[in-house]
Amino acid sequence: MIRSQSTSDSVTSEKNIKNRLQVQRLLEPGLIISSSFGSDAVKGLTQIPKTLPPRYFYDDRGSELFEQICALPEYYLTRTETEILQKCAGEIVRITGACEIVELGSGSSTKTRILLNAYQQQGLPLHYLPVDVSAGMLEKSAIQLLVDYPSLQIHALAGTYELALSQLQPSQLSNRMICFLGSSLGNLNPQECDVFLSEIVAALQVGEYFLLGIDLQKPKPILEAAYNDAQGITAAFNLNVLEHLNRRFGGNFDLQQFTHWAFYNESEHQIEMHLKSRRSQTVELAAVQLQIDFAPGETIRTEISRKFHLDVMQQQLKAKGLVPQKIWTDQKRWFGLLLCQLQGT
Ligand code: AVI
Repeated sequence: MIRSQSTSDSVTSEKNIKNRLQVQRLLEPGLIISSSFGSDAVKGLTQIPKTLPPRYFYDDRGSELFEQICALPEYYLTRTETEILQKCAGEIVRITGACEIVELGSGSSTKTRILLNAYQQQGLPLHYLPVDVSAGMLEKSAIQLLVDYPSLQIHALAGTYELALSQLQPSQLSNRMICFLGSSLGNLNPQECDVFLSEIVAALQVGEYFLLGIDLQKPKPILEAAYNDAQGITAAFNLNVLEHLNRRFGGNFDLQQFTHWAFYNESEHQIEMHLKSRRSQTVELAAVQLQIDFAPGETIRTEISRKFHLDVMQQQLKAKGLVPQKIWTDQKRWFGLLLCQLQGT
């Protein structure tokens, strides 16, 4: 009797969760991977200096390693942004009122819970649209959120930011807030950043909001420690890119023959992560018919992580019509959170 009741309860709650979850794949996974990913890699590896787009970090193993990075003592970014969010979430809710939350690069959605709690405490409806390239990660974290927040509605979008932003339907609530946390903006070069901000503007109505988390400029030793942690997790995260390429494109990168190298480029205000070849070698990516020659010490730049100046960023946002309503930082001014509102022209 008890058993049959608990089974029916769990069926009901499973149904309840399914009713509150919609997962939309913006492109067939095969298409995302084979066309766009493959041509990016070939282009980057055939230019001088060699580069790779940062999306190659995020296969399952890479996503797991990134979660570990976020908890490292040297990687102050996640900790500091979380601390700021905890302090200002109530104020964000008071400014925006009821709003649909779109989160770009949602990953495990850990920081989002701080916002969801704040909206819930004010008795406001919870509509969340996480966007991530990993459909698996999206579904897993969405289900956990739906269990924990019984009134939450989730419409998950599996695909790139560009696709998601271009395909967003008008908000079902009176307002929308697009969140881009974790200083992921820093992984875009200035030109890509400009295009991205225009895409944000196009996805918002006048009066709607953009919440942006950015890492700020600070002394070089602090920055370099964050990308050269003592446990070697960031090194493993960087080298995993080669493992990912081997699997995806039938490659024969020997991970022993490359080393992790990360440094702060002061004139560009950016951390650069590279993989450095230990010797002269030729590597093949059979599936894309590519042979890559490396000289000893030659590198592939796998990531830039730009560090921003708050005033400069404010000007850049304002120039796009995204006017900062409120800016929060931590005591050391290591990280900034900007709540911007789109103004009409
Ligand atoms: C995702 N992104 C903001 C991270 C960063 O700090 O630029 C990626 C990362 N790379 C090495 N450690 C973390």
